[in-house]
Formats: sequence, C-alpha cells, structure tokens
Amino acid sequence: MSDYQVRLATLDDLEALLGYQTPVGGDLDATRARLRHDFEVRVPAERTLLVLASVAEGVVGVGRCSYIERPYEGLDRIPSGWYLQGVRVSQGWRRQGIGRALTRRRLEWLERRTDTIYYTTLAGNRPSIALHRAFGFDEIARGVDAPAAPVRADRLLFRRQRAGLIRPPPAPDTLS
Ligand SMILES: CC(C)(COP(=O)(O)OP(=O)(O)OC[C@H]1O[C@@H](n2cnc3c(N)ncnc32)[C@H](O)[C@@H]1OP(=O)(O)O)[C@@H](O)C(=O)NCCC(=O)NCCS
Repeated sequence: MSDYQVRLATLDDLEALLGYQTPVGGDLDATRARLRHDFEVRVPAERTLLVLASVAEGVVGVGRCSYIERPYEGLDRIPSGWYLQGVRVSQGWRRQGIGRALTRRRLEWLERRTDTIYYTTLAGNRPSIALHRAFGFDEIARGVDAPAAPVRADRLLFRRQRAGLIRPPPAPDTLS
C-alpha cells in the first residue's frame, strides 16, 4: 500500500492540477481559467469540490465533482444534477486504491447534498466503469452528450441513487 494523502485542493495547487484536468490535446490555458473560476467562484459557493492525492514527490491524482446545470432536456442529453467528474491518477500510481480514495472522498461530500449522483464515461473505459460500479453506479443511458462535448454513441450515463432514504417527518409546529 503506498503512502498517499487525500485532501482538498486549493488555488495554490492550480499548476499541479493542470495536467490532470486537461483533456488529451486540450488547451492548458483554458483549463487554468476554468480552475481559477472553480476556486474563486464555484468552490466557495459549494457548487464544486476538488480533491487531490499527494505523496512526498507531489500530486499523483485529482478528482472533481460539480453541480451541472443543463439548458436543454432530451433523451440524449445528460440531466442537470450533481456529477463526479475528472478523476485521474498518474500512470505510475494506478491500481493502488488512489482513484477509489478520491471517489470516496467526493461521495462523502456529495451525500450531504443529494441522493442522486451522476457520472459519464465512454464505453471503452473499463477501469473507470469498474471503479464506479463498485460504488453503486448503474448505467441508465447511452448515446448522451456531456457538458462541453456533443452526443457520442458510446458515451454512457451512470447514476447512483440512494434508495430507501427516509427523511425525518416535519417538526410538529410546521404541520398544518
Ligand atoms: C480510472 C482511474 C482514475 C482509476 O484510478 P486507480 O487509482 O488506478 O484506481 P484504484 O486503484 O483505486 O482502483 C479501484 C478499482 O477500480 C477498478 N480498476 C482500476 N483500474 C483498473 C483496470 N486497469 N482494469 C480494471 N479495473 C480497474 C478495480 O475494480 C479497482 O479495484 P481493485 O484494484 O481492488 O481490483 C485511472 O485508471 C485513471 O486515471 N485513468 C485515466 C483517466 C480516466 O479515464 N478517468 C476516468 C474518467 S471517467
């Protein structure tokens, strides 16, 4: 078992996060601007959480989750809601439980806010699907879009729905 720590990311971690949060072939400056917006606006508003895993040498994994507001509805459109996003572990550090730890940390935060959590991935991403299935995510649609990407036949939408959550009854003085 490797010696890593999972903690909240801060603006001071921005440069270390860039490589993890930029899609392959993506623009680092665009990611920098998005992360800056996250730390200045979305994180304080509790609409985004960024967590990282670090070892003595530095950051080895990052995960994000966010409330995503969708302007359009449709069978091929992912719905508005809370999403796990962008978990990535450095190549040399994979398969040591870091992705799971980053996911557990984000789910703990999300569970205080919602009963329903979504995530999308491509059908070929077996590591990601296995990781999320183990946390109770079930595939509910395929051929969907993503916040900044068009519909793809092989993009899957997963949902984790906490069943049987019983809310306490309202206090007596709020009953009519
Ligand atoms: C997906 C990813 C984050 C997993 O990170 P990780 O630290 O290696 O994952 P963990 O060691 O915590 O693995 C947890 C479980 O996920 C599954 N898993 C992870 N890697 C796997 C692989 N290569 N093949 C099959 N299952 C895998 C296993 O069920 C594993 O549990 P086990 O090791 O007890 O069998 C990592 O592979 C990664 O960064 N991939 C590239 C980025 C990416 O695709 N992110 C997901 C975007 S949706």
